[in-house]
Amino acid sequence: MGKTIIAPSMLSADFADFGGALTLIEDSGADWIHLDVMDGQFVPNLTFGPKLVKDLRRRGSAFFDVHLMVQTPERIVPDFIAAGADSVTFHLEAAIHSHRLLQTIRGAGKKAGISIVPSTPAATLSEVLPYADLVLVMTVNPGFGGQELIPECLEKARTLSDERKKRGLNFLISVDGGIHEETAPAAIACGVDVLVTGSAFFDAPDKKAFVQRLRGKDYL
Ligand code: DX5
Ligand code: ZN
Repeated sequence: MGKTIIAPSMLSADFADFGGALTLIEDSGADWIHLDVMDGQFVPNLTFGPKLVKDLRRRGSAFFDVHLMVQTPERIVPDFIAAGADSVTFHLEAAIHSHRLLQTIRGAGKKAGISIVPSTPAATLSEVLPYADLVLVMTVNPGFGGQELIPECLEKARTLSDERKKRGLNFLISVDGGIHEETAPAAIACGVDVLVTGSAFFDAPDKKAFVQRLRGKDYL
């Protein structure tokens, strides 16, 4: 496996200064910008829509990893693609035609991502794995930053990593929720490629050092 991708989440940024947060993430040496979109229906919280992605896109070419926690994501996916998302991840639990939606995203030349909440078994993804570029395993119940990682969810990441190897697939595995310096090594050991980190990143006094430590000892 290559270098672990670090994706700080804008959910923990100062919402009055998204531009400043983008600069903070870029200056830290992190790889992706994780953008959590919440609709107040799929999760009990609201964040932002495609306009934020469009406005941030004008500030450069950072990789925008959009995570849609919304019902009927097919209605809004094209807007995020048009706004400049590089990857679009939606929830298996929120879309009936996941297979079609993954192909729509891929067809637009973007990374197609699918996510599962803690109560959804990894095996539920079996049929769509060949059509996914990214599988995001939620390691907390989505909706809020600053929660504690649910250890059983890391086992699902390991199951997906084993399945990927067995079937010769090459989707990336991402984990999201409760990722910090103490939990990152266990995630990496489970075969995870992408670490999403919200509160731990924004709380870190030295963000560059934090990103390096999260990647692990091999990359210090
Ligand atoms: C939670 C979001 C996460 C969140 C993670 O619903 O999907 O991306 O920002 O935050 P932390 O790292 O604070 O758990
Ligand atoms: Zn997220």
